[in-house]
Amino acid sequence: MGKGFDIGLEALAAGSATARETPANAGSGARGTFFLETFGCQMNDHDSEKVAGVLLARGYRQVQSPEAASVILYNTCSIREKAAQKVFSRLGEFRAQPNEGRMIGVLGCLAQQEGEDIFERAPWVGLVCGSASYSKLPELLAQWEAGQRRVTGLETDTEETFETEMTRRDNPWRAYLTIIEGCDKACSYCVVPYTRGPERSRSSAAVLAEARQLADLGYTEIQLLGQTVNSYRDPSPRGMRFAELLLAAAEVPGIRRVRFTTSHPRDFTPDIVQAIEAQPAVCEHVHLPVQSGSTRVLRAMQRTYTREEYLEKIALLRSARRAISVTTDFIVGFPGETEEDFQETLSLLEAAQFDGAFSFKYSPRPNTPAQTMADAIPEEEKSRRLAMLLEKQREIQTARNAALVGQRFEVLVEGKSRRQNQWAGRTSSNRMVNFTSPVAGLLGQYVQVQVSSAGPNSLAGEAVQE
Ligand code: 5AD
Ligand code: SF4
Repeated sequence: MGKGFDIGLEALAAGSATARETPANAGSGARGTFFLETFGCQMNDHDSEKVAGVLLARGYRQVQSPEAASVILYNTCSIREKAAQKVFSRLGEFRAQPNEGRMIGVLGCLAQQEGEDIFERAPWVGLVCGSASYSKLPELLAQWEAGQRRVTGLETDTEETFETEMTRRDNPWRAYLTIIEGCDKACSYCVVPYTRGPERSRSSAAVLAEARQLADLGYTEIQLLGQTVNSYRDPSPRGMRFAELLLAAAEVPGIRRVRFTTSHPRDFTPDIVQAIEAQPAVCEHVHLPVQSGSTRVLRAMQRTYTREEYLEKIALLRSARRAISVTTDFIVGFPGETEEDFQETLSLLEAAQFDGAFSFKYSPRPNTPAQTMADAIPEEEKSRRLAMLLEKQREIQTARNAALVGQRFEVLVEGKSRRQNQWAGRTSSNRMVNFTSPVAGLLGQYVQVQVSSAGPNSLAGEAVQE
């Protein structure tokens, strides 16, 4: 994020105007008010947009503080211990306050993971519901409205996806669109298969109908979402492959950009690269978490690919006709990770030349196979490895971004600075660009920007006057 920029603040505050439909009773406040805070990933952000839609459709009105709300919801994350702690500390804030007819609900991954234990730890909580049960939310809310004080939705064996008639989207130009929910991979460190349940793909017809609807509402960029988005399998007889779906979504009139996240290396096939090459509207960015550069550690993580196989995918991406930006995730300090394993991670980092990386210290999670693995790495050693990784990646990003100075990129403008003529947006490769333009009203527009300087996390330049 560029210095001094409130990207999105002004722009995104207008988000509530982007509801897909406005039911007659939306915002009437007939049933009271709700506050919704979201933790975690983009999947959670988008789930919250759908949850907000469900509540608005039931006549609730959204408010910006828990104090003003009759229903307080936390959509939670449990990917690492810290994320879970944050939620419990948030819930703890209500310890000394009487409930007085107010409902506090815990949604999402921590809800699924802890289940009814949440009622024991925080007896003031009235609803616990995991993401695989969101299609039952209206029913669960009705139970609470009817006076039931401990309502749960905790099934994960469902085959359902969360379909809503109304989604209250936060961003007026870029819309998330779920194509696959849950996860069938079994990475040994990860809670997601437990918290989000098994893989469920939506039919290609439903996905494309939603894309058309979004275009009609004025969205120009859509972001296809899934924990393993490229594991998509069309359940309908049409049997579209993920790459075909990408192309079909990109052809929807009005849609100028299609993003997708997160890709799993195992299912990352050459036809995805071909789709990016063939269709300029498919964004030139792939998020491809590697987690480790050591085949030994990858095996212990049950990632189902080797270092060499991963690097082959990178070679495929780097040989494409478009300059596809590649970002990744790393976990350092997995149980048993030796100095030699870690050096392999550093050398993979060097070899792959990522355009961005999210790096984390391994955090043991309940019910996962890795939780009980021997040879835990001491916290200080994890911190040392993380710092080295971050430093090296920063150098790589600095050099890679510096090489873009002098080039021109199309930017979707998403933010406006307080400073005059200063704007910010993203390239197709998902790079943040801060730029100057004397033209007014650029929010939501596509602008050509000439890059004049670069830092490790963003580019800067001037709009090209056409
Ligand atoms: N500890 C640390 N990081 C984790 N991630 C997932 N599970 C854990 C864990 N137990 C990281 C992975 C994943 C990203 C979303 O979070 O890198 O790609
Ligand atoms: Fe967190 Fe994973 Fe759940 Fe997203 S899916 S909210 S990252 S635990």
